[in-house]
Amino acid sequence: MDQNRSRDVARMFDSISSTYDLLNHLFSLGIDRRWRNAAIRSLRLEAGHVLLDCSAGTGDMALTAHKRAAGIHTVLYDPAHAMLSVADSKANILPPSSYRLVRGVAESIPFPDSTFDCFTVAFGIRNFADLRKGTQELFRTLKRGGIGAILEFTPDRSRLIDRAFQWYMRAVMQPAGALISRDRDAYSYLSRTVQSFQTTATLETLFSEIGFRCKKTRKFSFGIASLFILEKP
Ligand SMILES: C[S@@+](CC[C@H](N)C(=O)[O-])C[C@H]1O[C@@H](n2cnc3c(N)ncnc32)[C@H](O)[C@@H]1O
Repeated sequence: MDQNRSRDVARMFDSISSTYDLLNHLFSLGIDRRWRNAAIRSLRLEAGHVLLDCSAGTGDMALTAHKRAAGIHTVLYDPAHAMLSVADSKANILPPSSYRLVRGVAESIPFPDSTFDCFTVAFGIRNFADLRKGTQELFRTLKRGGIGAILEFTPDRSRLIDRAFQWYMRAVMQPAGALISRDRDAYSYLSRTVQSFQTTATLETLFSEIGFRCKKTRKFSFGIASLFILEKP
């Protein structure tokens, strides 16, 4: 694993943590809430379940999960300290014993095999320094029969939508993101990684090679984002 890359990416997220939520909802026009709800619904959460929210960032997936299912326990896991601090301040509406914040990278998850009933990774896997290793760790720490939901931007969308999305990133997201967050590099990193990430088919092949059963893949908003629903057989 490239530890320098991991450290640089985490630092970059730390630097934009205070404006991350605002820009996230602004740029997605709030549509990300619908995507997140669909991802959480696919987990079929029940009271007593232990959920790993990998790449938890500012905690929106975990909060969505707790709104949907009472009595779950969540580990919010992320390498960026300042992102987790924002998550912590938002999570204070939850019972303190229902969640834990843990710092670290997906490539080395500090929990024993078969710890979690389910996991989510929302817009996180494209940041993994080693995608295969990170995904193997998600597999290892999931219980048999457990479900994982991975939400990510994927580049295989129709040409017209791709052009419109590229224009939107270049003309709106990058300049506005740089201005509001005061971090030009972060928003050019975000749009670069969104454009150059793996296709849906390549990701499905990787997930199957690791041992997951790909239960379903859903495309949202004309293919801008994809939701992979995975099971550990
Ligand atoms: C785009 S944010 C997504 C945050 C949140 N899941 C959401 O949906 O808003 C990506 C997150 O991935 C985290 N990240 C970066 N490198 C990582 C790694 N190697 N393993 C796990 N998470 C990582 C970042 O710190 C950041 O919080």
